[in-house]
Amino acid sequence: MKKYFKTVITEGVLIGLVFILFIGRVNAQTAMINVQARNTTSLNGKWTVILDPTGAGDYKQVWQEKKPQKKTDFVEYSFEGGPELDVPGDFNSQLCELTYLEGTVWYKKQFDYTAKPDRRLFLHFGAVNYAADVYLNGEKIGSHEGGFTPFQFEITGKVKNGENALIVKADNRRLKNGLPGYGYDWFNYGGITRDVNLIETNETFIEDYFIQLKKGSLNTVSGWVKLNGANLQQSVEIGIPELNLSRKATTNEEGMAYVEFKSAFKLWSPENPKLYKLVIESKTDTVSDEIGFRSIEVKGDKVVLNGSPIFLKAVNIHEENPYKRARAFTDGDNRLLLEAAKELGCNFVRLVHYPHNEKMVKQAEKMGLMVWSELPVYQHIQFADSLVPQKLETMLNEMVRRDKNRCGVIVWSLSNETYPGTPNRNEALIELTQKCRALDSTRLIVHVMNTHSYDNNTFNVWDPLYKYSDLIAVNEYIGWYIPWQGKPSETRWNVSFPDKPVFISEFGGEAKSGSAQGPTDEAASWSEEYQETIYKNQVEMFGNIPNLCGVCPWLLFDYRSLGRMNLVYQNGYNRKGLISENGEKKKAWFIMNEYFKRK
Ligand code: GCU
Repeated sequence: MKKYFKTVITEGVLIGLVFILFIGRVNAQTAMINVQARNTTSLNGKWTVILDPTGAGDYKQVWQEKKPQKKTDFVEYSFEGGPELDVPGDFNSQLCELTYLEGTVWYKKQFDYTAKPDRRLFLHFGAVNYAADVYLNGEKIGSHEGGFTPFQFEITGKVKNGENALIVKADNRRLKNGLPGYGYDWFNYGGITRDVNLIETNETFIEDYFIQLKKGSLNTVSGWVKLNGANLQQSVEIGIPELNLSRKATTNEEGMAYVEFKSAFKLWSPENPKLYKLVIESKTDTVSDEIGFRSIEVKGDKVVLNGSPIFLKAVNIHEENPYKRARAFTDGDNRLLLEAAKELGCNFVRLVHYPHNEKMVKQAEKMGLMVWSELPVYQHIQFADSLVPQKLETMLNEMVRRDKNRCGVIVWSLSNETYPGTPNRNEALIELTQKCRALDSTRLIVHVMNTHSYDNNTFNVWDPLYKYSDLIAVNEYIGWYIPWQGKPSETRWNVSFPDKPVFISEFGGEAKSGSAQGPTDEAASWSEEYQETIYKNQVEMFGNIPNLCGVCPWLLFDYRSLGRMNLVYQNGYNRKGLISENGEKKKAWFIMNEYFKRK
């Protein structure tokens, strides 16, 4: 009998532990969209922090903020007396002792709140890299994994009248089964890198909507509105005042209402980035947005914008302000990067290798720059790990949900340079492609590959995933990682799926601005002349690539990547920029600028 009780107790404890672990891992909600149009209270500004490189904070349960109760008590942590960090902003660039941290920083923010009847309160994060555990007044409210997409928690009923203590554990350690995984060629900026807001809503509010032209149409919008709350069946109205257009609909028991309407829209394009004010009203909420209408599709071997073929003049951009040596997040940071792209002659920006901040996408749209948004499914991903498929789907939902109303976004890129031999890679990415099409049938969906071979001056482009990709997106570094095997003008391209448009999503080579030490015709000189020659040869090769629909040099600015350890030329920088981190245009910049002018 005694043994029986022992077993029962053991099992009970185990079940209890699993339950606590599950609660502890309460995942964040997929965030409501268009935060800027909501009733928000910003929590940006100075937050006090505890630096926790050894990860002791979990064991000490610092979120409880224990205080000595007796004369003999003492507590070996406190948020008082420590440094402060700016939120938003990566922590690495704010404190010298954090420069290379891949670990934990505990952030704390006090805020006052007065609860109002029939109002709900949400805590919204633009992004925390890489993982976040969030505590309110000593209680864990949930966690989120993924460094580049928004998430939220409802804190109605958990927030106190008066002063509240919000504590966030931000941990940018790499995970083998993370997205990205262990290895990536950019700086791992950690922390609360984007805005934090309290969002107050009515009991039932407009949580999500999708208002875009139907695929292939130039005048018909097919969209929907989704409510969240107890009173889900309401009438909703969608209006575009400038067009004197208004449509009513009634949401169903799930809070969904579908609309379809026509109009002679002025179509959004790089030349005329026309946006309309859109107002969505329900009985209990109103949200306004700025929406553009355009059609993007592939027709045969062409990319077609608003019914006309377009050549994609692109450039790769990492989310880093080169002058600040920090994660970019301000309007000024975004404009700096996008204006440099415009000056180069671009009509398209590939925002690598993760979703950039929401304001960057909106700014690009306003400037007439089409946008390529990409998931951090980068190179070595553990596709066979049991947790990865869910991580892929969650991050896909978060990326598409946030920006699906941004007509400037024309491409969802679901992977970069993954390898065909990786277990479950094809299956996982085919499934992810299908999920993306189900979420959004209006945009191009691509996978970027570098699984080519180059023999006898013939460049062979193949990968099973190209069957599922709207573009043949190729990263190739002929002239840098792989020497030319003959005249560039005679390089033959042999592309599997020959009927699809070919987009060169990366090409180029390194140069240290002003460097001409040693023979300039040798790669190891890191000379601008060597890089310039790569670009001249690439441009020569472009002329004989079948179905070429666009090119995208790697990349706009030199940027930080700690694996680049040549201490004469790199010093922790990837030097493939057309512009140095000090704003100096390299000789190759002018080759690219001339090419884009001629297209
Ligand atoms: C790869 C990769 C980039 C990387 C680049 C390089 O193609 O996509 O992220 O920085 O090559 O080696 O510089």
